[in-house]
Amino acid sequence: MIESTHSLTAPRHVAIIMDGNGRWAEERRRPRLFGHKAGVDSVREIVETACEIGVNVLTLYAFSTENWNRPSTEVSGLMGLLQSYLQSELRTMLQNDIRLHCLGQPDRLPTEVRTVLLRTIEETRSCCGMTLNLALSYGGRGEIVEAMRVLARKCQEGGLDWQTLSEADVSEHLFTSGQPDPDLLIRTGGEHRLSNFLLWQASYAELYFTDIKWPDFRKEQFLEAVNSFQRRQRRFGKTGAQLQAE
Ligand code: FPP
Repeated sequence: MIESTHSLTAPRHVAIIMDGNGRWAEERRRPRLFGHKAGVDSVREIVETACEIGVNVLTLYAFSTENWNRPSTEVSGLMGLLQSYLQSELRTMLQNDIRLHCLGQPDRLPTEVRTVLLRTIEETRSCCGMTLNLALSYGGRGEIVEAMRVLARKCQEGGLDWQTLSEADVSEHLFTSGQPDPDLLIRTGGEHRLSNFLLWQASYAELYFTDIKWPDFRKEQFLEAVNSFQRRQRRFGKTGAQLQAE
C-alpha cells in the first residue's frame, strides 16, 4: 500500500482520462452502465484523495464531444449519473472547499443536467481549496478553434494585435484560463492516447498510463501515480546538469 505523499510536493494540476468502465462491466457480464456506475465511486474517492494531498486543480474527462456518438441509452445513462453525482456531491464540495468548473459545451447537455451543473458551479463559486474541472462535451481541437475565433475577432476589432499574439493569449482563451497547465496526465484502461483531451494544456504534462480500468482505480492507485510523478525529473528542455546547477 502506497502511503500518503503529503511530505513531497503534490502536482498542482492532475488531469485524468477515466477509461475502461465499459470493459470492466463486460468482464463481469454486466451492461456498460454498470461500469460507469462503479466509475462514479472511483470519481468520489479520487476527488477526496486529490483534495487530501493538496492538488490545486483536478480535471476529469467525463464526456467527450465524440461520446455523443455512443448509443443513446448509454448517453442518457451517463447524463443521469452525472446529474445524480452533482446533486449528491454539493454538500461534500462545500465542506471540502471544492470549486466546480466545467470545460466544454454545457449548452449541449440535457436541460436538467445543465441546470444542476450551473447551480453547483454557482454555489461553489467562492470555494478556493481545490478546483474540480469536469470536462463535459469537451474536445481539445474544438476548444482551440473556438479560442482562435475569439482571438481573430479581437484582432479584427482592434483589441489585440495579431503580430504580438502570444502563447499566453491562447491559454487565456481556453476553458482552463487562469489555471496552471496539468503537471500529470493519467489515463486508465490500458490505451496509450490523448483522445482529444487538453491538447494545448498537456504539452509539458508527465504522462502516466495504467492498465487498471477506471472502476478499479482508487486511492492506492492514484497515490502510486502521484508517487511516480514525484520521482521524475522535469527538465522543460534543459539538461539535467543545468537543473542541478540552479
Ligand atoms: C470511458 O470508459 C469513460 C467514459 C466515456 C465516461 C466516464 C464517466 C464516468 C466515470 C462516470 C460519470 C462521471 C462523473 C464525473 C460523475 P469507456 O466506457 O469508454 O470504457 P471502455 O473503453 O472499456 O469501453
